[in-house]
Amino acid sequence: MPFPKLRKFQALTLLLCVLTFTMVLFNYTLRDPSGSGYLFLKYAVRLSDSLFPRGPCGCGAGRCLAEVTEDDSWFAERFNQSFHPVMSRKGSLLSDDTYRWWQWLQAERQPANYSEVIDRLFQVIPDKELYLDSGPERCRTCAVVGNSGNLKGSHYGALIDASDFIIRMNQARTEGFEKDVGYRTTHHIMYPESAVDLDNGTSLVLVPFKTLDLQWLISALTTGNIQYTYLPVMAHIKASREKVMVYSPSFFKYVYDTWLDGHGRYPSTGFLALLFAIHTCDEVNVFGFGADQYGNWHHYWENNLEGGAFRQTGVHDGDYEYNVTQLLADKHKIKLFKGS
Ligand code: C5P
Repeated sequence: MPFPKLRKFQALTLLLCVLTFTMVLFNYTLRDPSGSGYLFLKYAVRLSDSLFPRGPCGCGAGRCLAEVTEDDSWFAERFNQSFHPVMSRKGSLLSDDTYRWWQWLQAERQPANYSEVIDRLFQVIPDKELYLDSGPERCRTCAVVGNSGNLKGSHYGALIDASDFIIRMNQARTEGFEKDVGYRTTHHIMYPESAVDLDNGTSLVLVPFKTLDLQWLISALTTGNIQYTYLPVMAHIKASREKVMVYSPSFFKYVYDTWLDGHGRYPSTGFLALLFAIHTCDEVNVFGFGADQYGNWHHYWENNLEGGAFRQTGVHDGDYEYNVTQLLADKHKIKLFKGS
């Protein structure tokens, strides 16, 4: 019968036409990225995005932290993207409530004028609204590296170093521990009393607990005149000025109220770092969290018999923080690596 033969011939011709058209278009596009072929491709990608949505980030379906599914009400009720972890001049205004809470944290006796300090601060450090770039084009992977002794012998170094952002904190060190904790650090979160010098590639992220901490940052990057807060502090700090940022007090309060439900006196640096990552990254891997068998917050670089100090004083609620962290992992919002 001639009919099926004709069908086959038509199908073959159509296939050839499509192939030729695609090759010509591809060739043309490569030669002229500003031309109509390129526009056509862009349009095709956009069309495919709207037909097959890729989610709120570019990491692939089901891998974006901000993606809220129907059974995710616990996360959705807490995750509030209107709070930004990094303070800019515009975002530095604090509500009376937040200012009072923040000042209460370390009960400064005679705080300097907050807005004058902010004015001076942004003459010294950049005034940038950072990390507002989330969207289907971005897939930012982050490692939050706490200081727990469970990192010892973990061999997580390579895994940690493979992330885009590697966030460490306080007295964390890498030298001599690279196999377990990695080489790279992109962000180092600290407060004046826990400060360390940084290399040029690392962003200093100051968590301020009082107005004096903001003054310390200005001083440590310039004159060095502040050498004491409630403890002796570094007069000068080595850090790239253009990379310095300040953790927002409003965000700090949001973490405490919303994520810790007011447990502990205030969140630990590690928990603040975790929420920093949850609000700036698309995928978050967490390392170095967890007390030792006696409930002490031991460090990977020391045999720390005094490690339970925070727990004993009750400044942080280590158990509650750990449970929330575990819940985030159970809900596949983060990956929690428990070490050795
Ligand atoms: O001790 P330090 O505060 O410098 O450690 C950084 C953070 O790592 C802590 O704030 C805590 O969140 C986390 N950590 C932990 N378990 C440990 C030690 C630290 O979860 N054993």
